[in-house]
Amino acid sequence: MYPPPSTLWTFLLRRLLQISLVLTFLVITAGSIVRMTGSGMGCPDWPKCFGLVIPPTQISQVTWNSNKFFNKGQMIIYDNKLLVAKESFLTDNNFVSSKWKNYDRHDYSIFNPIHTWIEYINRLIGALLGVPILLSSIFIFFRFRSHPRWSLTIIAVLLMLCLEAWLGKVVVDGNLIPHQITIHLVGAFIILGLLALLYRSVSSEWETHAFLAERKIHGILDTRQKVYRVFILLGLLMGIQIVLGTQVREEVDVLMKSLGVNVSRDGWVDQLSSMVLVHRSFSLLIIAFSYYLMRISKGLAGLHFRAGIIFIVFILQALLGALMFYFDIPKIIQPIHIILSSISWFLIIDGAFKSWLMIRDFKFSSPD
Ligand code: HEM
Repeated sequence: MYPPPSTLWTFLLRRLLQISLVLTFLVITAGSIVRMTGSGMGCPDWPKCFGLVIPPTQISQVTWNSNKFFNKGQMIIYDNKLLVAKESFLTDNNFVSSKWKNYDRHDYSIFNPIHTWIEYINRLIGALLGVPILLSSIFIFFRFRSHPRWSLTIIAVLLMLCLEAWLGKVVVDGNLIPHQITIHLVGAFIILGLLALLYRSVSSEWETHAFLAERKIHGILDTRQKVYRVFILLGLLMGIQIVLGTQVREEVDVLMKSLGVNVSRDGWVDQLSSMVLVHRSFSLLIIAFSYYLMRISKGLAGLHFRAGIIFIVFILQALLGALMFYFDIPKIIQPIHIILSSISWFLIIDGAFKSWLMIRDFKFSSPD
């Protein structure tokens, strides 16, 4: 028999997971702001930015000048092209092309310090997310034998995080190909889902230690099972709705890329395929099921609360969606629409797992 984890251990792990979750929401938010402002290529290379660890703030930092020192790998914009210093050197009075090579991953060569910093902050938050996740992994690995499932989940989170970092590079190298952005976004939702599962499981254990166990929550088994099934169904529907939404976004991306981010969006919606209509109608189904979930979870305090929030978030989502549909996709609504999606996705996974724990607890604590 392995020693049970102490309350302090579970408490600390729970805090680390809370920080990870908040940072994941922030990464999704930052990513959507990058897209809204068209800052995706603010740093044309990866992981550095114009070959610098701290990105440039002034155009003079990315242009050639006489008597200026350049480090190996540093980038400049010269003749509308990106050039990379082949070695560290001090320039003399003339530009010597043999000291430079063309950056051949893409042909984007614009410097906009605001875009650069928005993209850089996005990357920083992503990197920061690695810290609590790594600490959580260390915490969990020390209990590998008593908590193998937590260990496997955190390994999956770590792998997904590495994959996401690599995908970030692929997205920049490809100069923002829409379907690559979609895969990147789906990856973030998978990390969020895995963290939600882990957090719920750790919380349940912590509550048990703190004598606030799930078993204190009343509700007969049948209701719990029904609520669990509807949560799962809603999770599946939400998964489909996310994919439908990303397909609409890919079409908007194509328009944004060819026409520009800061232009009038008059008539854009008419140019979208019928995917947007499918996405719109599907939201009615989702809202109907979330309303049903709210009704049937009455009396199951934690679950009813979650179902209520999910219902409200879906209504808001649909309202924002309608605003985008009827008012030419206002820029500011795009990030809010995706942030609300990440919140409802988290709550559905958390609620599904919590209801499963409540069923398990009922079975364990029941005399027969
Ligand atoms: C339950 C309700 C809804 C959910 C969960 C939802 C979810 C999503 C998601 C996940 C995306 C992808 C965002 C991205 O890839 O960055 C998206 C995009 C989009 N959705 Fe929805 N949506 C909902 C309702 C609606 C409705 C009713 C409309 C109205 C037609 C709508 C219009 C759009 C549009 C126009 C986009 C593309 C936005 C962009 O380019 O940034 N959505 N949605």
